[in-house]
Amino acid sequence: MDIKSIDWNEAWKKARSERSRKWSDSAFWNKRAPSFAKHATESPYASDFIGIMQPGSHWSVLDVGCGAGTLALPLSRMVRRITALDRSGAMIALLEERVSKEVLTNITALTAGWEDDWEGIGIVAHDTVIASRSLIVEDLRAALDKLDRFARKKIYLSALVGDGPFDRRMHEAVGRELNTGPDYLYVYNLLHQMGILANVAFVTNRESKTFGSHEEALNSLRWMFADMSAEEEQRLAGYLKEKLVDQNGRWTMSHERVVRWAVIWWEKE
Ligand SMILES: C[S@@+](CC[C@H](N)C(=O)[O-])C[C@H]1O[C@@H](n2cnc3c(N)ncnc32)[C@H](O)[C@@H]1O
Repeated sequence: MDIKSIDWNEAWKKARSERSRKWSDSAFWNKRAPSFAKHATESPYASDFIGIMQPGSHWSVLDVGCGAGTLALPLSRMVRRITALDRSGAMIALLEERVSKEVLTNITALTAGWEDDWEGIGIVAHDTVIASRSLIVEDLRAALDKLDRFARKKIYLSALVGDGPFDRRMHEAVGRELNTGPDYLYVYNLLHQMGILANVAFVTNRESKTFGSHEEALNSLRWMFADMSAEEEQRLAGYLKEKLVDQNGRWTMSHERVVRWAVIWWEKE
């Protein structure tokens, strides 16, 4: 097969799984917002992403799919100003809470999505546009075009590598197939087809979380399985019983999980 004949936007649409479609649902993120925000703050992901960006103090930054401010909050202390948007009202509410608690004056938070008319809601071009783990779209080409159009200088995004944050062994134990949908290779190849020669770096997190109890572990991991049946929940509890190791009163998984994200960036000509 001639690789040039592949339409990577069509390939992306085809490879989207039921799971990746579920991520487009704001109700999913509204429910997950508090635990996601907590985990995202504790993880080294944000500082790794920012390390690749090397932000300048004069930059204006547009953060698309910002969550509760994983990047917007630390970046706000490094750059001139930030516009942060997310379609989940719960994520934006958490971000606003943090902004007012930390008395940050250079962040504008908006409940808005990829599909909205950004010009219509007053969003202008920024020096740098970022989309961290938020390429949750049906039409990848339209999203990449939009990021490029709203950036004056640079674009940074991150996308799944392989299984991303999902635990394959846990899926096997529960009896569910793990299909996370298209990963960063689709993004990279589509950019290439669009005439954009992007850079790629990998952010690697070694996850070995500890929990106060088996119940806490179950609650913190159940987000991987939407609408779990009682039987599936029992299987997950059984798996955790087998794999959680007691470490001085705290429980930790017997295996470390490696989670990788691809950070892709380019500069405008
Ligand atoms: C994995 S979180 C990433 C959050 C943050 N950027 C980070 O890296 O921690 C994905 C975010 O994308 C948001 N999202 C999902 N669909 C969206 C859409 N259509 N428009 C804007 N944001 C969306 C979700 O609400 C969620 O906050």
